[in-house]
Amino acid sequence: MTQDELKALVGQAALAEVVPGTVVGVGTGSTVNCFIDALATMKDQIAGAVSSSVKSTERLQAHGIRVLDANEVESIPVYIDGADEIDHHGNMIKGGGAALTREKIVADLAQRFVCIADASKLVDALGRFPLPVEVIPMAAAQVARRFGQAYGGDARVREGVVTDNGNLLLDVRGLSITDPAAMEAEVNQWPGVVTVGVFARHKARVCLLGTPEGVKTLR
Ligand code: 5RP
Repeated sequence: MTQDELKALVGQAALAEVVPGTVVGVGTGSTVNCFIDALATMKDQIAGAVSSSVKSTERLQAHGIRVLDANEVESIPVYIDGADEIDHHGNMIKGGGAALTREKIVADLAQRFVCIADASKLVDALGRFPLPVEVIPMAAAQVARRFGQAYGGDARVREGVVTDNGNLLLDVRGLSITDPAAMEAEVNQWPGVVTVGVFARHKARVCLLGTPEGVKTLR
């Protein structure tokens, strides 16, 4: 099976995680696009969606799915999103699609994070995928230097990308993330950091992993 077929498989499988009659949290990326297309088949059974990016909002609306502002909801039962890397404990690197800040906000509204990913995303330790970090533009160079000093990482501004929130993204290479929760807590405190793409506080409760043998559920 191709990677795209595996993404379609988990996108479809995620429908079983949707709680009928409720608002669904929807992530961003090519795997989530498969989920959104599948969700359209049950759009009359949900109360709507809270979206994590302009791109996902547009796709949801194109299917006729109502998109609510995050400020309109207090809590949602489930948030469904992809990942750039996920470890065996559900910690993730996210933000390859530049939507990490809104993804963390919607994840924070949700009672359960369900990660959908093809098998290539499962790793023993996070850090091979360059870690995305959303930063206020005037702090980009300072935060980049600090990554080098604190973790030995090589942080570069992602060229030509402005986030949905009007900020810049750094991609940090050369990291070995041995304690995701500690790194998330530390980097979040650096002035100018909006969101670090380590999802440990908001890790996945369940991962639906697309493999050539079918969908594996990791808990
Ligand atoms: C976007 C994300 C995505 O979930 C992540 O990049 C995975 O994307 P894809 O499903 O296209 O591989 O974090 O900010």
